[in-house]
Amino acid sequence: MRKLQNVLVTGGLGFIGSNFIRTLLKEPAFTGKIINLDKITYAGNPASLKDVQEQFLDTRYFFEKGDITERGVIEQIFIKYHIDTVVHFAAESHVDRSILGPENFIKTNVLGTFTLLETARHFWLPHKTVDREVLFHHISTDEVYGSLGTTGSFSETSPYDPHSPYSASKAASDHLVLSYYYTYGLPVTISNCSNNYGPYQFPEKFIPLSILNIIEEKPLPVYGNGKNIRDWIYVGDHNRAVLKILNEGGAGQRYNIGGDNEWENIRLLHTLIDIIARKINLDSEKIRNTIKFVKDRPGHDLRYAIDCSKIKKELGWKQDVNFTEGLSRTVDWYLGNQDWAGQIRSGDYQKWIEKNYEERN
Ligand code: NAD
Ligand code: DAU
Repeated sequence: MRKLQNVLVTGGLGFIGSNFIRTLLKEPAFTGKIINLDKITYAGNPASLKDVQEQFLDTRYFFEKGDITERGVIEQIFIKYHIDTVVHFAAESHVDRSILGPENFIKTNVLGTFTLLETARHFWLPHKTVDREVLFHHISTDEVYGSLGTTGSFSETSPYDPHSPYSASKAASDHLVLSYYYTYGLPVTISNCSNNYGPYQFPEKFIPLSILNIIEEKPLPVYGNGKNIRDWIYVGDHNRAVLKILNEGGAGQRYNIGGDNEWENIRLLHTLIDIIARKINLDSEKIRNTIKFVKDRPGHDLRYAIDCSKIKKELGWKQDVNFTEGLSRTVDWYLGNQDWAGQIRSGDYQKWIEKNYEERN
């Protein structure tokens, strides 16, 4: 088991990164510090870590505002905090945004990952600034494998075949990460995870967007015929897998993480409608009438399914939260945190939604 001490988390104000920080701080075996480096883009939200800031700011949790493409910023952080572990979440993460404007995806996802790798290589390898075991863990996605037909699943040896600027930028970053292992011997691990859901997810993504639109009685956009399939995993289950990899993963190894939980989009939407209608006493038939089939996403992958038997067998991880329970918790969270969502859904967010839907009419 590795001893994590000074952990640099990139993108820790985003959906999955903020959940990871909370999870790690609750881990009894972890006594170290977390340094969160985040640029606070539209997707980064300090309110998502309010509780952590109140309890741990400048004792076990440190925040640095900055961009992962800026080498000087990262170097300063490595020096100041004696970083021994990097958990790299920071990314531009939304497929539709990558279609409308790919440039930031290349900058952050490719150049940003490269800059982090270069810094880690220069600090960890020749100078041995830390005497502990070091590790660079890269958070990636199942989208790098492309699209499946009606059968089969992605394993760690499936060929890369990305279809959107987002997935292509993540694929490029994965290749860079592994190249630093083979070329320089940098201890790296990669995880490729399927679709996450849970509290604090930015409401441009399908589940939180649908939940909030149902609650606010707004139209429910479904791309194409609604028959695309995603494999959903609760965000906490994803992060428990990341912790397993940090503690016990093998250098140079890639691990698939998934929910073993495939759903057609339209079926998922009907389920969400039923859950919310029951909870707040709405007429589910009336809500169903607000479903709007809209123009499809260009290059829309038909189906993702993850074979995560490797991490189960080798590291003893498994999912804990079943989908009904996870969706119910998520809906409760959005119902109870309408301030968090309300702040986001005003201003620039509205402009984005309108622009995205202009493309779909
Ligand atoms: P998110 O969009 O919610 O958060 C991204 C965070 O990164 C934000 O806090 C943002 O401010 C920060 N960031 C963006 N550009 C930055 C930069 N240049 N420098 C520093 N910080 C920057 O993303 P998420 O959904 O939490 O995803 C996190 C990671 O997990 C990403 O790498 C994504 O590719 C991967 N992933 C996501 C999913 C999913 O379903 N959401 C599934 C598999 C993998
Ligand atoms: O598979 C992992 C990936 O999951 C991550 O790498 C990405 O960061 C994350 O955004 C997510 O990508 P998707 O494109 O699968 O997620 P999204 O929530 O955007 O869409 C899920 C499905 O729902 C997809 O088939 C498109 C569809 N959709 C989406 C939206 C926003 C709709 O039908 N209507 C919508 O309004």
